[in-house]
Amino acid sequence: MIVHNLDTSNSVLNHFISEIRDVKVQKDSMRFRRNIERIGEILSYEMSRELKFHTNKVETPLGLKNVPCVSDELVLCSVLRAGLPLHQGVLNYFDQIENAFISAYRQHTTAEDFEIKVEYLASPSLDGKTLILVDPMLATGSSLVAVQKALKKMGEVKQIHLISVIAAQEGIDYVSEHFPENSHLWVATVDPELNSKGYIVPGLGDAGDLAFGNKL
Ligand code: URA
Repeated sequence: MIVHNLDTSNSVLNHFISEIRDVKVQKDSMRFRRNIERIGEILSYEMSRELKFHTNKVETPLGLKNVPCVSDELVLCSVLRAGLPLHQGVLNYFDQIENAFISAYRQHTTAEDFEIKVEYLASPSLDGKTLILVDPMLATGSSLVAVQKALKKMGEVKQIHLISVIAAQEGIDYVSEHFPENSHLWVATVDPELNSKGYIVPGLGDAGDLAFGNKL
């Protein structure tokens, strides 16, 4: 897997990351969702550099111009529910693409151990297409691996681009072992560790709760 960590150079992206982490700012859920969306826009712009392009002849009022346009058939899939604001961010730039949704949640067997349950899946055929899989928090990596396994029944994808906001190094290593070698990971920033409950440290807390409210 080819990893693109975008926090290795300074840019406005860091302002958005700073706000979603900050306990004083992140409680404003509308701002939190919008910041995740803005990060999705930046990550998808960066990802676009790796896509295949063809030349489109465009007619302007004054003449013709050859313009490179994306030729990959893209399907954007997000992991419910935390993936929704990131999904919207990618969709803001790739507004014509197909969409898929999948649910994955941690079912705890003890306070510290859990297995990933995948239940809901709505997806078009993925045969020969480029899959953009979005999940804001790449923690252990086990949900993304479970999701990729579940998506296999929708067809054989040509390539996978993973988009995450914060990733733990452990999760990146786990996903790298399980995803095809030609996959790309686009991540806004990487954190060093996970706590005993599988949360990213320092991370930001629970992305789904911050975006949509607490759950039981
Ligand atoms: N999911 C989250 O929302 N936060 C984490 O730190 C890990 C998984």
